[in-house]
Amino acid sequence: MKQVHAGIIGLGRAGQMHLKNLLTIPEIKIEQVAEVFIDNISEQLNDLGVTNQTKDYHELLSNPNIDTVFIFTSTNTHEEIVTAAAQAGKNIFCEKPLSMNTEEEASLNVLRAVKKAGVKLQIGFNRRMDPQFRNIFENVRAGKIGAPQVVKITSRDPDLLPHDLIKRIGGLLFDFTMHDFDMARYMMNSNITEVYAKGGTLIDPTLKEINDIDTLVLVLQFENGAYGLIDNSRRAVYGYDQRVEVFGSAGMLKAENVSDSTVELYNDQRTELRKPLPMFQERYRPAYIAEMKKFAQSLLNGEPLVAQGEDVIMAQRAAVAAQKSIETGLPQKVDTTLSL
Ligand SMILES: NC(=O)c1ccc[n+]([C@@H]2O[C@H](COP(=O)([O-])OP(=O)(O)OC[C@H]3O[C@@H](n4cnc5c(N)ncnc54)[C@H](O)[C@@H]3O)[C@@H](O)[C@H]2O)c1
Repeated sequence: MKQVHAGIIGLGRAGQMHLKNLLTIPEIKIEQVAEVFIDNISEQLNDLGVTNQTKDYHELLSNPNIDTVFIFTSTNTHEEIVTAAAQAGKNIFCEKPLSMNTEEEASLNVLRAVKKAGVKLQIGFNRRMDPQFRNIFENVRAGKIGAPQVVKITSRDPDLLPHDLIKRIGGLLFDFTMHDFDMARYMMNSNITEVYAKGGTLIDPTLKEINDIDTLVLVLQFENGAYGLIDNSRRAVYGYDQRVEVFGSAGMLKAENVSDSTVELYNDQRTELRKPLPMFQERYRPAYIAEMKKFAQSLLNGEPLVAQGEDVIMAQRAAVAAQKSIETGLPQKVDTTLSL
């Protein structure tokens, strides 16, 4: 069987989850892993059969047995590591976003390095491969609801993240809402041209100290004239709340939360259904596996990538516009042109 020979860089929250998923995919062989704090997880990795471990990602990039790298490090390292991986001639899967730098040139320089090296880059917009959302996407494309007019996304975390993690991976807009900007654009098959945002700290006022928010509402305008609504919260007391709806001229498609059981209780007191799956690791497991399989198929058979550099730039632009909108109280235009 043709295989992708891969290295993994970064084994924190996302990386450890991805590693376990990647080990289930026969088309991908994990040759080596790199993690700064490898000593803390070395035994656990040995138990998984992942014995070629290093602290230094440069060592992994110079491994001639590796043709592809998965980058799951903190966002504030993505620019440096993606650029180095491209220069080493490796194909790249990188978690979103490419950068937390609001100066776009930093991300464009990374994409230029990727283009110059002639390697492939897929971005971790896993929700595109979620079976529920993918079904909506395909039905919208098939014209089942006519012309799409409004996309509505509710995306709420179960609870606050530690401040030090937020500093490494980005605040609400650059870490969490990043997925929703991409999902909105993907569902509408149209670029976001304007963003109006209201956001604040209704849950944890100390987030102001690190320039972050916990509650956000957004109004979007798309190039095709349609609209979008997004609401985000860092604390939904009932769990990880992930819903998408697309309304169109001939109907509506919507995906409700996913739980571990479809059984509902009805009695004379109440009706009850199961809570949503607790967090991204469980809720999006099928999507994470599917995005990795698609990446492998793209490398091995030339199939299209799930999400590319342009997609992450468009999502980052929307995040920057939302930040400015919160600061100014005014809607902000989003440029849709891109040339590298
Ligand atoms: N797609 C998703 O659903 C999803 C979910 C969670 C996180 N993420 C993304 O994944 C990335 C990581 O997030 P996280 O929550 O796992 O953060 P984390 O801080 O838990 O993990 C990052 C890991 O990278 C390691 N690291 C940092 N610099 C390194 C280097 N130079 N060499 C080797 N290892 C290095 C850190 O030691 C840490 O273990 C972020 O970009 C985040 O946005 C995506």
